[in-house]
Amino acid sequence: MSFPKINPTTTNSWKKLTELAANRKTLQAYFAEDDARAKQFSIEWDQFFVDYSKNHLDNDIKEALVSLAKEVGLEDARAAYFAGETINQTEGRAVLHTALRAKAGADIRVDGENVVPEIYNVREQIRTFSQSVIDGSRKSSSGQAFTAVVNIGIGGSDLGPAMITEALAYYKNHLDVHFISNVDGDHVMEVLKKVNPATTLFVVVSKTFTTQETLSNATTAKKWLVEALGESAVADHFVAVSTNLPAIGAFGIQSENVFPMNDWVGGRFSLWSAVGLSIALAVGPDHFEALLEGAHEMDTHFATAPIDENIPAILALLTVWYTSFLDAQSEAVIPYTQYLHRLPAYLQQGIMESNGKSVDRNGEAVSYQTGNIVWGEPGTNSQHAFFQLMHQGTKLIPAHFIGFVESLHGNQDHHDKLMANFFAQTEALMQGKTEAQVREELVAKGLSGDALEKLVPFKIFTGDKPTTTVLIEKLTPKTLGALVAMYEHKIFVEGVVWNIFSYDQWGVELGKQLATVILDEFDTRKISSHDASTAQLLRRFKS
Ligand code: F6P
Repeated sequence: MSFPKINPTTTNSWKKLTELAANRKTLQAYFAEDDARAKQFSIEWDQFFVDYSKNHLDNDIKEALVSLAKEVGLEDARAAYFAGETINQTEGRAVLHTALRAKAGADIRVDGENVVPEIYNVREQIRTFSQSVIDGSRKSSSGQAFTAVVNIGIGGSDLGPAMITEALAYYKNHLDVHFISNVDGDHVMEVLKKVNPATTLFVVVSKTFTTQETLSNATTAKKWLVEALGESAVADHFVAVSTNLPAIGAFGIQSENVFPMNDWVGGRFSLWSAVGLSIALAVGPDHFEALLEGAHEMDTHFATAPIDENIPAILALLTVWYTSFLDAQSEAVIPYTQYLHRLPAYLQQGIMESNGKSVDRNGEAVSYQTGNIVWGEPGTNSQHAFFQLMHQGTKLIPAHFIGFVESLHGNQDHHDKLMANFFAQTEALMQGKTEAQVREELVAKGLSGDALEKLVPFKIFTGDKPTTTVLIEKLTPKTLGALVAMYEHKIFVEGVVWNIFSYDQWGVELGKQLATVILDEFDTRKISSHDASTAQLLRRFKS
């Protein structure tokens, strides 16, 4: 098995898709000419129903997209991914977040060693520890039960646990869970203001344990704790999650309070590892494991379903179609549940840090569009904010609508209103409103003549705006795990087709390097070699 490096533009399917893109019809026309379309372009899997029929595709386009996936070697790539091959080649690592949710008896090897037993050891450590904090048997330095947890991390060491903890708020226990991520000292102080040092547990999460933000924030939190309770309290109040065990020791965290992770888990895919400790603390280890179980079920679907019936593959191919052939710049993700309000932010890291690349796997500059900007907010709030642009603006914005059949608190009146909006919006975006309909409406309102004519153009909706509906039975730890894994595999497929390396993130380095130079200059008060604009701004800040 090997990881393919095929320039997608050299394939027959790419050429075919270029032709098809030039001749595509409107969504309204597709629906008018094919009664079977809705059923044909939907996938039912477990508690998921994915209707992608309101997208700019027909049988020919779908066939060409699936052929493209085959021509670039998606099936081999998928096998290499699950088998733990070194597919993150620029960092020389396997990409095995899937192993973190594999069954206990699985055999997944990295450098010849089965990593599954060690994964289960860490899962047991998470279970025992989180259970003891939740039931109060693990005490703070003053012998009290913990009441609050503060997760200190950034990027993947923050967004995953923070997003999931919010998403599973319904399943939460009594522990107050907070997140400190930004190196902004005001963020740190606002969180510390809310917690009592005597009953607060700090979970410092950093894969590398070298990240400036996290080390600064952990140092500040430690100082705050020591001022309140003395140096000896650190051992009881700080635990850490990292691959860098020596650095944790140097920080002063005891080795028995360390939860290890591995370099074959990318930060933005790490919530399933010990990085998810704050999740296990917030909702308990059973729910944490159900989350992993749901992800594993999606892994199995992705690994085994044929590409044309494979949810992550189809969603990814649609993104490739819009991005590389139809010039879409962005995608919206609109969850119709407040619980998922952090999902778009979480996906921004997953999607944009992974596929924001312009050099292909052969080291050549790409000649096509890759990556996509992802953004969104929950419905219905977003309807009253940016939906105007989606309905009547000039941009092509494919959108994912994620909704649930059942609400969690069972307030059916609210849920019906929420879901009526959910269905109405995708229908409105697709169907639009014709000039004839606008005229009819205005006449019914008593308008006529000039007054009517002046208004008509502004009230027309062209429709033809693509959406994909992901309708899930209920928001549970399991369905949430499957949903997140669905996006992880979507990212993978896009990267394979675009022939880019999705699992490195060299693009975040330059800014970090320059920030170090500037910070040194603040200390030495010597503003040296910068461009004129930056030098002027620095002088203004440190005059
Ligand atoms: O700067 C980007 C990044 O490396 C992310 O990929 C990662 O999730 C984040 O920083 C935090 O890194 P760490 O967990 O090593 O502190």
